[in-house]
Amino acid sequence: MKNVLVINSSPNTGYSLSTQLTSMFAGQLEQGFNLVVRDLGVNPPKHLDQLALSGFFTAPEQHSEEQKSALMQSNELIAELKAADIIIIGSAMHNHSITSGLKAYFDQVARAGITFQYGANGPEGLLTGKQAYVITTAGGDYSLDFMKAMDFQTPYLRHILGFIGITEVEFIPAQGGAMGPEVAEKNQAAARERIKAIAAELSESVAA
Ligand SMILES: Cc1cc2nc3c(=O)[nH]c(=O)nc-3n(C[C@H](O)[C@H](O)[C@H](O)COP(=O)(O)O)c2cc1C
Repeated sequence: MKNVLVINSSPNTGYSLSTQLTSMFAGQLEQGFNLVVRDLGVNPPKHLDQLALSGFFTAPEQHSEEQKSALMQSNELIAELKAADIIIIGSAMHNHSITSGLKAYFDQVARAGITFQYGANGPEGLLTGKQAYVITTAGGDYSLDFMKAMDFQTPYLRHILGFIGITEVEFIPAQGGAMGPEVAEKNQAAARERIKAIAAELSESVAA
C-alpha cells in the first residue's frame, strides 16, 4: 500500500484547472493506494506568528500550552507529509509565483531539526525517499524562452521541495491558459497524457 498525499492550492474552488488535474491523477490510480487530500485553497494554513515562531525555536519538552496550540497545525501538516510516499501537488501561478496558501503551507512544514537541518555541508533535507509530481497551471507558458525569467513558481517549488529532502520531483506543466484556446488545449492535452502515463506506471509498480 502506498500513501498518496494530494495537495491542492488554488483558491478558485469554482473552477480550478490544477485541482481538476490532481483529481484526474488521483482518479487514475488503481488499487493499492491510500489517498489523503489536503486542500489549501479551501483551508489555507495560518501565517506564522510570534507564538508559532517562538515554538519553532524552543525544545518540544519546554513548550508552553500556547506554543503547543500554535504548533498544532504545523505538526499535523508535517505528520501528513512524512507519512506520504507519493505527493501530488496542484500549483496555480499567482503573480508569477505560487499561491499564498501554498507558501503558508511551506512556512508551516519547513522546520529546522524536523524537516531540514544545517550541517558542515550546508542544508540537508530530512523528508527523503518520496516521489513528488507537481502540476503547474498559469495563464502564460513559461516553457517559452522569453517567459522563463518571469517564472518564480517552478524554480521555487523545485528548490523548497529539495530543501526539505524531496528531490525526486517531476513537473507537469498545464500552462498557457490565457494564450488562446489552441495553445491552452494543446498544453492541457499533453499534461493529461503525461498524468495518465505516470498513473499507469505507478499502478503497475504497486501491483507488481
Ligand atoms: C490572482 C491571480 C494571479 C495570477 N497571476 C498570474 C501570473 O502572474 N502569471 C500567469 O501566467 N498567470 C497568472 N494567473 C492565471 C492563473 O495562473 C491561471 O488562471 C491558472 O489556470 C490558475 O490555476 P487554477 O485554475 O488551478 O486556479 C493568475 C490568476 C489569478 C487569479
